[in-house]
Amino acid sequence: MTKSRKQLHLGAILSGVGTGQNDWLHPGLPGDASVNINWYIEAARKAEAAKFDHVFIVDSPYITPDTAPHFLNRLEPLTLLSALAVTTSKIGLAGTLTTSYWEPFNVARQFASLDLISNGRAGWNVVTTGLEGASRNYGREAHFPHQDRYRRAAEFLSVVKGLWDSYEDDAFPRDKSRKIFLDKAKLHALNHHGEFFNVAGPLNIQRSRQGQPVIFQAGESAEGRAFGAAIAEGIYSNAENFEQAKEYYDDVKSQAAALGRNPDHIVILPGLIPIIADTDEVAEARQAAQIGNLDLDKALVQLGRPFNYHDFTQYPLDAPFPSVEHLTLNSYKGHAERIIRIARRENLTLRETAWRFAAGRRPFVGSPQTVADEIEHWFEGGACDGFNFRVVNPEDFERFTGEVVPILRERGLFRSEYEHDTLRGHLGLPYPENRHAEARFAAE
Ligand SMILES: Cc1cc2nc3c(=O)[nH]c(=O)nc-3n(C[C@H](O)[C@H](O)[C@H](O)COP(=O)(O)O)c2cc1C
Repeated sequence: MTKSRKQLHLGAILSGVGTGQNDWLHPGLPGDASVNINWYIEAARKAEAAKFDHVFIVDSPYITPDTAPHFLNRLEPLTLLSALAVTTSKIGLAGTLTTSYWEPFNVARQFASLDLISNGRAGWNVVTTGLEGASRNYGREAHFPHQDRYRRAAEFLSVVKGLWDSYEDDAFPRDKSRKIFLDKAKLHALNHHGEFFNVAGPLNIQRSRQGQPVIFQAGESAEGRAFGAAIAEGIYSNAENFEQAKEYYDDVKSQAAALGRNPDHIVILPGLIPIIADTDEVAEARQAAQIGNLDLDKALVQLGRPFNYHDFTQYPLDAPFPSVEHLTLNSYKGHAERIIRIARRENLTLRETAWRFAAGRRPFVGSPQTVADEIEHWFEGGACDGFNFRVVNPEDFERFTGEVVPILRERGLFRSEYEHDTLRGHLGLPYPENRHAEARFAAE
């Protein structure tokens, strides 16, 4: 057991019945997993027992009848994470809330509450929502334009972080003998006046022992990468292979360094959806069978989601992938651009593109040994700081925690015990001093 090696980080995406076409059909998965709190508690406890850094809850406020099973019917992230906060004790709790359809004061309160309830284990995945249809759920005719969304998100986040510092950490003497509950000098209004928000503050909740919740982000476009490099402490990414992951990793870390940030203070976690079996051959056969069970109509709908549910059934299937560049601008921009880029580069027809992205490219397929080797290759190769494991297939989760993680431990790549009690501690992130206290100390 070689302890001194840099350790990788593991997140668990709890996605209930799953977002793949057939994930929900697995006999070991309860049909109501996405709204069944006991399924989440059990999955979170299994990830905690395996010493994962955190669980992660995705979210987006818009569906159509063709939306993927998990997205169709699921629990709201903060409500769900509060339940997990009292049924777990060490594992971090990260959830998604969009800056496009919430108010900074509310979001600040919700995550500060989760951070106190969990005793310093909260994380916020800051997204801007890529689905235009969401605007109609919030009384808007149109979604915010892509470039505005990120500018708005930057201001939104700075307001939330400003509000989180309303109370200095020792603002509450709670001294009953001298009847002093609050030291008013350590309570600070924000008085923010900006392009999108005017927020007076102060916030009516103190900080937790990790100072502030951890900020996560997931953006693929040039704007998304720049935003992540500027504000993120954790980044969720998608990568089909080592080269893609490394390119993204190097780009975001170098942008962060250019902004004067310490690149080690951004933990980049590509998604991990392994297929694990006794041998590589059996795992590859399982993958082939899964691809064989895919339905083309559903694959075409899935292909449409990053283009804001564009209807691809209107185009000839065996003609080259259609010209839909104009549709990328206001949806999941980076994701849509990646689909077009790959379809063009590989000269794919529409049918081939639909199959390509429904099946996906899954680099972690094989025996526990093979999956551990590939994980080590990406990590030691500087393509990631760890992975975000998508909890879908119960057996793969069981074999990953029961067989792959022990191999990673044996190689000194992953913790055997938690050494910290906060999410920041798990991720090796610095403690954010309260800005007002810092200013006070600097002035003294
Ligand atoms: C692993 C991962 C998780 C994501 N989770 C969410 C989510 O929960 N909610 C959401 O609206 N978008 C989510 N996204 C989408 C991103 O927030 C973003 O909209 C998308 O990457 C497109 O970004 P871009 O417009 O900068 O290209 C996720 C993306 C990735 C890669």
